[in-house]
Amino acid sequence: MSPPAKQQTLFVCSRCGYQSRKWLGRCPDCGEWDSLAEQVRPPAADPGATPVEVHSLVGADDREQQRLVTGIGEMDRVLGGGIVPGAVVLIGGDPGIGKSTLILQLLSALAGGGRRLLYVTGEESIGQIRMRAARLRVADEEIYLATENCVESIVALAGEVQPALLAVDSIQTMYSREVGSAPGSVTQVREASSRLLTLAKSTGLPVLLIGHVTKDGAIAGPRVLEHMVDAVLYFEGDRGQVFRILRTVKNRFGSTNEIGVFEMKESGLAEVANPSALFLAERPVNVPGSVVLPSLEGTRPILVEVQALVSPSSPGSARRTAIGADPQRLALLTAVLEKKIGVTLFDQDIFLNIAGGIRVDEPALDLGVVVALLSSLFEKVVDPATVVCGEVGLAGEIRAVGQMALRLREAARLGFTTFLMPESGQRQLEGAAGAGMRVVPVRTVQELVERLFHST
Ligand code: TYD
Ligand code: MG
Repeated sequence: MSPPAKQQTLFVCSRCGYQSRKWLGRCPDCGEWDSLAEQVRPPAADPGATPVEVHSLVGADDREQQRLVTGIGEMDRVLGGGIVPGAVVLIGGDPGIGKSTLILQLLSALAGGGRRLLYVTGEESIGQIRMRAARLRVADEEIYLATENCVESIVALAGEVQPALLAVDSIQTMYSREVGSAPGSVTQVREASSRLLTLAKSTGLPVLLIGHVTKDGAIAGPRVLEHMVDAVLYFEGDRGQVFRILRTVKNRFGSTNEIGVFEMKESGLAEVANPSALFLAERPVNVPGSVVLPSLEGTRPILVEVQALVSPSSPGSARRTAIGADPQRLALLTAVLEKKIGVTLFDQDIFLNIAGGIRVDEPALDLGVVVALLSSLFEKVVDPATVVCGEVGLAGEIRAVGQMALRLREAARLGFTTFLMPESGQRQLEGAAGAGMRVVPVRTVQELVERLFHST
């Protein structure tokens, strides 16, 4: 016979959710001081050993066939083709970005055919949701609403309603009766998610969790939350701008780094099928400091406008600002230009911006940054029908990046005629001939300056 289970004492970090058997002054995981608090857990019942099933490696996962396809193309793309049964998907984003709007439209798209959908909110009243629904012209009787904060009640409710999908808005407002701490605390967020996860896995019900994002961009709550769920999507964008990007950062059932692009309109979110055109819509023509770059978001080429402003700074306080790009990368490229081309930038303020509020994180952006900087510094306009794309190394060499043919075709489709690119990337262009694009290969930043700014 096994000894009786004892009450276990556990210390949990209030910042990241790290667990320890003994108290520690500093969390070894996130490095926060004095963040471990005691938590008493009821002893877990010993379920005893159950026989384990084994399966052959060969065979199809029948969940693939049962994906819930939303019919909203941008959403399905990000989800990897629809929602898999039993999957738990976390959608994170800043307050006011449009998460609740997105969920309501998603539920409406899934409604019909006798499918019930359950939307549980812990932050708004039924009246508020109905008002939003009226604005969105969503009027599906199969969408069931409930206001509730207790996960145990939500699990029971899901058992009654038997929905095809459960949406919980937001996970930070939920609590489990079994845990003593306040809703929104790390322990509660983890516990509440874990209940919903068990529900999803045991019944095959897909669950969408909405999550708030903290100032530094992480989903509020324990980091373990992102590890627990099957997929994490970020809904981002500038609140002053109309478009929103839904980005996959984790997906157990599809590829990551996919994006879906939406536009926030008076009557809700509309899909943007042609994002390149949207991001270039307000591009100034014949202005120095602007250049277009075919960037790659997942498998999808999107043209973005890179803008730079270089202007004399007050003595001893040169500013470097990068919006939508990595500031470290900007500092590095500035140093490369000073060293390799001999331009003076230490006494200049430099502002870099990816227009429209989109973020570009790939090395291919380097060439766009360099060209925009030099264009502003020299006060020379880059030909508006030219796109540039490539990585810049510390020696000033211009290096190939992937998917050159795909990028070229997207640029050609939008009417660009010249592609300035790394010489070593030309090999990738075989098969993309006939797109009507003049290719200008460059090997170094010195050569780039020759080609782009001295010939005009
Ligand atoms: P909401 O979905 O409530 O954001 P979240 O759940 O992420 O906090 O939407 C917030 C904003 O969207 C709000 O400021 C108003 C705007 N909005 C529109 O512009 N059009 C619409 O049709 C709707 C419903 C909202
Ligand atoms: Mg909301």
